[in-house]
Amino acid sequence: MRTSEDAPARPSVVLGVSAGIAAYKACELLRLFTESGHDVRVVPTREALRFVGEPTWAALSGNPVTADVWDSVHEVPHVRIGQGADLVVVAPATADVLAKAAHGIAGDLLTNTLLTARCPVVFAPAMHTEMWEHPATQANVAVLRERGALVLDPAVGRLTGADTGRGRLPDPAEIFEVCRRVLSGRSLDLTGRHVVVSAGGTREAIDPVRFIGNRSSGLQGYALARTAAARGARVTLVAANVALPDPAGVAVVRVESALQLRDAVLEAVADADAVVMAAAVADFRPAARSDSKIKKTSAEPGAVHLVKNPDILAELGERRREGAAPYPAVIAGFAAETDDVLANGRAKLARKGCDLLVVNQVGENLAFGTPDNAAVVLSADAEPVEIPRGPKEALADVVWDLVAERLP
Ligand code: CTP
Repeated sequence: MRTSEDAPARPSVVLGVSAGIAAYKACELLRLFTESGHDVRVVPTREALRFVGEPTWAALSGNPVTADVWDSVHEVPHVRIGQGADLVVVAPATADVLAKAAHGIAGDLLTNTLLTARCPVVFAPAMHTEMWEHPATQANVAVLRERGALVLDPAVGRLTGADTGRGRLPDPAEIFEVCRRVLSGRSLDLTGRHVVVSAGGTREAIDPVRFIGNRSSGLQGYALARTAAARGARVTLVAANVALPDPAGVAVVRVESALQLRDAVLEAVADADAVVMAAAVADFRPAARSDSKIKKTSAEPGAVHLVKNPDILAELGERRREGAAPYPAVIAGFAAETDDVLANGRAKLARKGCDLLVVNQVGENLAFGTPDNAAVVLSADAEPVEIPRGPKEALADVVWDLVAERLP
């Protein structure tokens, strides 16, 4: 029989909550932690308790809750809580708490905890766009990142009131995924890098309601974006027709067609270190798009004439070869193959002029729409790297390892 002595220690997480309306979403984040076996100590700021009260945090965490350094002084909480943590995550992090953390101001239990913690620290800021974009906030964020904290960029969307913009707290499930990865001990080796990922499948319009598309779900591209953000990178995710929640800390640019995807990728790579083209891009598009719906009764069905789309990956390789900006330092692509997987992959790597080509076999129940993937990564300068079947996040990590090795 297992005794409490030999039970594995539960990872100890401090959930800091500062005074933003998104504090209510932190309840969901707390549940995700407790339900997956984490011991969570919630440390709200005094003002955060105006949004969500102490009983809620205490009931959901099963631990005592206070914002004050003057409670249970004999236990020295202002030092002990930070010292004992495996992870501190502040969600939502207001402009105020970011400023205090950046400057080492410690006037309450949360800011004291941030000063005493020696474990990884994740901030999930949420505030109005103006406050996020203010040079003071940006300078504080830069200081915190420089010191090794992971500060997630806020998401874009509806803010408090009628306005929309950058400033939303990312989806709690996505913040949780980032925290889980940080707890697993991965380093923030992509800090200071900007990477661009394309994901999903393009749609080429025939008329306002019909299109030529493909089966790509976007799962692999989203896993690439999620893992890069959790490794500290600034990530631009160009998403073509993907119905998945935005990964935490990632700037998502939505597109539909191959031409739109090309424009978005070229704009994003202007200051990027690397691009990973995981999107399934249509090779052809209808030569003409009907402005009105093609009616069954209107005429005999005409043939859909197709013209070639630009090959975006090949164009990036070409631009780099010719020194014609914009292009990033490292270029990676994916290759979906049904037959002669390796031979076709090698030919494609050479043809597209990229550094890495992740080759996977596609077909019924393989790769598309499934949470797992397996692949071989080909490169011009090294032996092939085989990635066994596993979660798309695991494959993504190997891809970023190989990209990181090639970053200047
Ligand atoms: N790709 C691209 N632009 C296109 C087509 C593909 O940038 N017009 C990129 C994809 O994002 C992927 C890689 O090229 O990273 C390979 O895509 P794949 O569909 O396997 O190759 P194709 O060039 O379309 O070759 P084929 O269909 O003949 O296998």
